[in-house]
Amino acid sequence: MSNKPIGLLDSGIGGLTVLKAAQAMLPDESFVYIGDSARNPYGDRTSAEIIQYTNELASFLVSQDIKMLIIACNTATALTLKQLQKDLDIPVLGVISAGSTEAIRQTQNGHIGVLATQSTVDSNYYAQTISQASPNMKISSLACPDFVQLVESNQYESVYAATVVEKTLQKLPDQSIDTLILGCTHFPLLAGFIQKAVGPSVHLIDSGALTAVNIGSRLDALGLRTGSCNRQTITLYTTGNVSLFNKIATKWMQSTDMKIKSIPIERLSSYVK
Ligand code: DGL
Repeated sequence: MSNKPIGLLDSGIGGLTVLKAAQAMLPDESFVYIGDSARNPYGDRTSAEIIQYTNELASFLVSQDIKMLIIACNTATALTLKQLQKDLDIPVLGVISAGSTEAIRQTQNGHIGVLATQSTVDSNYYAQTISQASPNMKISSLACPDFVQLVESNQYESVYAATVVEKTLQKLPDQSIDTLILGCTHFPLLAGFIQKAVGPSVHLIDSGALTAVNIGSRLDALGLRTGSCNRQTITLYTTGNVSLFNKIATKWMQSTDMKIKSIPIERLSSYVK
């Protein structure tokens, strides 16, 4: 048993899709989250930058005495999960395996689509994870570079966002996709527009929400669940604009019972050992 918080990191707002599912599923657990909105988007950055920034966020969370680290970002999962699992002495979970497993379970025709950042698509991590588990799947990936900014700028419910989503998804390589992974944790905020663009017959997979199930089973397996009289606390840190982060986070999480704090990027490197 451990009453320590669970840490989550993302390049910005996106990981809140994982946090929202996790806090609903694990109402006694406490969470500490960091979103690097000041350096967002990660998806267009070099691998070296993504690795450095993710290490900084992970080190910051470790300094907050977390019992488990969730890389609530597909881009960072693809580039850092294996290394962080080796480097840290707490359990580390990413978001890619849960969505991949569920997509394999859901597809009827064996054709899975993946919407992700450019970096995640280039890493080929989804294709490798799916093919290892089920070698006969056809996988079609599409980078959606404009989607993240629609969320970070709080425009994700706008008519402009609907237009961008519709136009981008016209580039999906094959119409026979029956299961589509939202392979970026920012994308569930655009799920309504994405579903409209691809049609009701395509099954959308929110890998972030599915990760929440994995968090619970890993806590149980390791005996790390919190005591039942623990009061859930949620603390959010952002490297970016606190009032914008607050506005999006409060609306998305449908909660005002969260502490939102600023952490300047200049301070983050001091946490790396
Ligand atoms: N939310 C992130 C992901 O799941 C990345 C967004 C970005 O910063 O490009 O990939």
